[in-house]
Amino acid sequence: MEVTNIAQKSPSLPWKTRLTVSILCAATDASQRRDGTVNRRLLGFFNFKAPPNPNPINGVETSDITADPSRNLWFRLFVPTNPDQTLPVIVFFHGGGFVYLTADSKAYDAVCRRFARKVPAIVVSVNYRLAPEHRYPAQYDDGFDVLKFLDDNKSQVLPENADLSRCFLAGDSAGANLAHHVAYRAAESNFQKLKVVGLVAIQPFFGGEERTEPETRLSQLVSMKRTDWLWKAFIPEEEWVGRDHEAINVSGPRAAKIAAVERFPATMVFVGGFDALQEWQRRYYNWLKNSGKDVHLVEYPNMIHAFYIFPELPESGELISQVTHFIHKH
Ligand SMILES: *[C@@H]1O[C@H](CO)[C@@H](O)[C@H](O)[C@H]1NC(C)=O
Ligand SMILES: *[C@@H]1O[C@H](CO)[C@@H](O)[C@H](O)[C@H]1NC(C)=O
Repeated sequence: MEVTNIAQKSPSLPWKTRLTVSILCAATDASQRRDGTVNRRLLGFFNFKAPPNPNPINGVETSDITADPSRNLWFRLFVPTNPDQTLPVIVFFHGGGFVYLTADSKAYDAVCRRFARKVPAIVVSVNYRLAPEHRYPAQYDDGFDVLKFLDDNKSQVLPENADLSRCFLAGDSAGANLAHHVAYRAAESNFQKLKVVGLVAIQPFFGGEERTEPETRLSQLVSMKRTDWLWKAFIPEEEWVGRDHEAINVSGPRAAKIAAVERFPATMVFVGGFDALQEWQRRYYNWLKNSGKDVHLVEYPNMIHAFYIFPELPESGELISQVTHFIHKH
């Protein structure tokens, strides 16, 4: 199957998925102004939101918790109501190129609810600040500061059965880029109770100056035009060194010395065969592997970028099962 993919530009997807992808692309393209700013008002019409709900839906109750009012840093907490055994904690970062979407976006509320119920786990979905209004490293700071907040304030904000010594970082696309960088910082820090034992990188948003073959062939959702724009919106102008910045080309010439980071957690990388970013994701996997890290690669040959947020795709459920298995193993 992988062989036939080479010539194909798009996979066979249900019409519902294709329609949602087209609407997402049209909305994001229309919101990008020529001067590099984003029309948030316009985006607001397309970012359908789900409010927090103390009444369990599908066995999971949710609430929004503020970690730092001065920068409006908050997270949505997902607590499964049934199990009274201790549960791992997943700190989750949504995708959206560092520019789009929020922790209360409907699609991400649904994804986190599924993780909370299926694993089961306490899920903390971080509403980090967005670019270009807030640029790198604001997003990494927000992610890391939520870990510190949880470590400091566990008894006040998390249920008693939350086990912070089994903490996993997870995210998709830009959220996976963010999870990687937060995992790196966490591995170099000391917490009282919190211990990051795993990283789930779902189709991470990485890149570089080079144009890889899939980037020139595939344009579903993450075309080069869109990703080039997003990277420019993310990195502060005065820090722009091209797309080989260490936040973008993580395994490139400016890469961190990951081999020396002993506590870097076990990692799972998901890659889709119709994702323009796939080559960068495989390089990330190889970089971790060659640096002596415990890392697993899972390939979905027929899937596009962000496939798992579409519950109508059976592969979406498969991914949740694989993450569940990974979490239970660590
Ligand atoms: C813990 O919570 C308190 C009160 O909300 C806050 O002042 C403090 O900064 C928090 N700790 C961290 C590390 O965020
Ligand atoms: C980016 O990183 C890769 C390693 O993943 C490296 O081979 C490449 O030289 C870097 N720079 C460019 C221009 O792609």
